[in-house]
Amino acid sequence: MEILGIDIGGTGIKGALVDTDTGKLTTERFRVDTPPEATPDAVAQVARQITRHFNWQGLLGCTIPARVEHGMVHTAANIHQDWIETRVDALISDATGCETHCLNDADAAGVASVAFGAGRGRMGVVFFVTVGTGIGSALFTDQHLVPNTELGHLPLRGGAAEDWASNRVRKEENLSWEEWASRFQEYLDLVEFLFAPDTIIVGGGVSRPAKVSLYRHCLHTKAELVIAELENEAGIIGAALSARQSRVTRT
Ligand code: BGC
Repeated sequence: MEILGIDIGGTGIKGALVDTDTGKLTTERFRVDTPPEATPDAVAQVARQITRHFNWQGLLGCTIPARVEHGMVHTAANIHQDWIETRVDALISDATGCETHCLNDADAAGVASVAFGAGRGRMGVVFFVTVGTGIGSALFTDQHLVPNTELGHLPLRGGAAEDWASNRVRKEENLSWEEWASRFQEYLDLVEFLFAPDTIIVGGGVSRPAKVSLYRHCLHTKAELVIAELENEAGIIGAALSARQSRVTRT
């Protein structure tokens, strides 16, 4: 089944049609810069632009870098504050004319990973972590998602973990990859202490192959640590797949 997936990020909003049986994109990705003032209405207009680009009228799955419960956004750590208490499914659906299902961006990337990527077939507790502007998490047990875990906000060094060990902080503080990895190791130690995952999957900007060799040797975990494979398509694929699953659940 083909579904339009849209991934809303801090710098770009990307969409593509996805074959949800194979997890493959069936079109090129179409990218629009995230509006500087990324209010719900401004982002909804970009979703409309992407939907029109594909001349799409079917089901739409969409990610948001925030906690999303029953179609409503509840947090706004790295996005415009106006998102809080926005009925995001209804907003995007009204703007695009498409039946829409939205979910947290890390949850979407994790869903794609366990269905089609590095997490495929992995049972037990799988902790998917995406490291970019923030730190996002998706927690699975026997392939079932526990949604909205938001474990990038675990307390670490007197603040939120993502303010200590995200890729944004690495750039802002001009850390070497090894310095950043020692911070990320502290974060993984905390996650292992709390959840004892069997597998840890690292995704987001730091999972690009050219970067991984710069820090991978610094990380040591009890869990098997693997690098995500789907890179910047994961959010789009997971959004589409979740939209399909949510429709199945409702019917
Ligand atoms: C947000 C999460 C999001 C993560 C990655 C965090 O700041 O709170 O909802 O998944 O960034 O984008």
